[in-house]
Amino acid sequence: MTERLDARTIGNKIVDPRFHAEPGAYHALFRQLRSEAPVFWVEPDEYAPFWLVTKHADIMHVEKSMDLFVNGPRVMLRKTVVDDQIRKVTGGRPFLLNQLPNMDGSEHRYHRKLTQAWFAPARIKVLEEELRGYARDLFDRTLQQDGSIDFMRAVASWYPLRVIMRIIGVPAEDEPMMLKMTQQMFGPDDPEIKTEKFDVISTVQGFFAYFRELLAKRKAEPADDLATLLADADIGEQEALSYFILAATAGHDTTSASIAGGLLALIQSPSEFERLRSDPTLLPTAVDEMVRWVSPVTHFFRTPTEDVELRGASVAAGQAMMMCYPSANRDEEVFEDPFRFDIGRPQHRHLAFGYGPHLCLGQHLAKLEMRIFYEELLSRIDTVVLDGEPRWIQTNFVGGLKSLPIRYSLRETVPA
Ligand code: HEM
Repeated sequence: MTERLDARTIGNKIVDPRFHAEPGAYHALFRQLRSEAPVFWVEPDEYAPFWLVTKHADIMHVEKSMDLFVNGPRVMLRKTVVDDQIRKVTGGRPFLLNQLPNMDGSEHRYHRKLTQAWFAPARIKVLEEELRGYARDLFDRTLQQDGSIDFMRAVASWYPLRVIMRIIGVPAEDEPMMLKMTQQMFGPDDPEIKTEKFDVISTVQGFFAYFRELLAKRKAEPADDLATLLADADIGEQEALSYFILAATAGHDTTSASIAGGLLALIQSPSEFERLRSDPTLLPTAVDEMVRWVSPVTHFFRTPTEDVELRGASVAAGQAMMMCYPSANRDEEVFEDPFRFDIGRPQHRHLAFGYGPHLCLGQHLAKLEMRIFYEELLSRIDTVVLDGEPRWIQTNFVGGLKSLPIRYSLRETVPA
């Protein structure tokens, strides 16, 4: 069934967190938009209006032209009332935190360079055995014998958290608190996650207090982590603290969602599961396919600094444009049979990590984590099936599975 493309109706759907918990409906709408109105103006009730950009080529074009399409004015969906609150607190700035995603030009280049080498493939690779240890520990605790488990809650949400906390320098005992805080920030509209009244400002203040203490500790006693790097960097305390928050939040739910969504895709495509088990050298392309398939980051915005034409639409300077990554990753003009999960898809060109100067800083880390996780999982698991309905998180920013009940059996011998 196709929708009547009306600015208010479509706008209200796109901003509705419940809509993102229904991947079928969500992808059907994007398929229609790509074919009928690939650059489409929407006017949701409680948000400032914006353009939806749904084609792969258009998102690449916008994201690589950093001088013409800037991040500063608007980064992600936020209700007008929250925007007003934030501007009141900050004296007119649209952000509580000055972080990479809302920086442009030389400021962005400077701050990105501070940690870019840290996240480069060669640097990240030295963590391989440590990451493998985290995966093994987790499986030893959670998958001891044949059984049933909520894979998302009991397994997938913990491993990326451990990894990113290790990289930042947060000790294991503080992880449950960090998990709660990141979920408050990124899954704020899901009633099962937002069990208590959530206050964005006090959550940010909580993060700040924690990381301020960590910076002080590392100044006194350096270690091999991001906290030490930032404690020594030539930036203000606020900026260092914002960096921690960005890494802690960006590096966690995105990767857990891709891991769990990847397993669901394998369960639903048994031939791909068998193919991967019989040929684990396919894991690097399988991981990219999982990330394309899940595309957990639903959007980031860009705003043109002058009037532009995009695929026939006249976009005025200052009108925000939503980069719809999940839509780009099902674009029929780029991916053959895009709704098929294919672990051997060659030359990945998906945009789940974005594109251009803001391309995800942690993409190599995320891919390494996922490859190791699946190497370890596949060496243990023999069979796996669904044990109930999977459910998706209600959010309009970083999405993915909330619950993935599975029944599994283990292989007889687990390699040492
Ligand atoms: C599968 C997992 C992940 C996905 C799908 C993902 C996706 C994204 C996307 C879409 C962007 C915006 C890119 C753009 O605007 O063009 C981004 C930015 C970013 N990501 Fe990731 N991410 C993942 C994992 C991670 C990890 C593990 C980290 C580790 C710290 C991380 C850190 C960042 C940072 C710092 C930025 C901001 C970069 C900038 O603005 O220059 N991400 N990510």
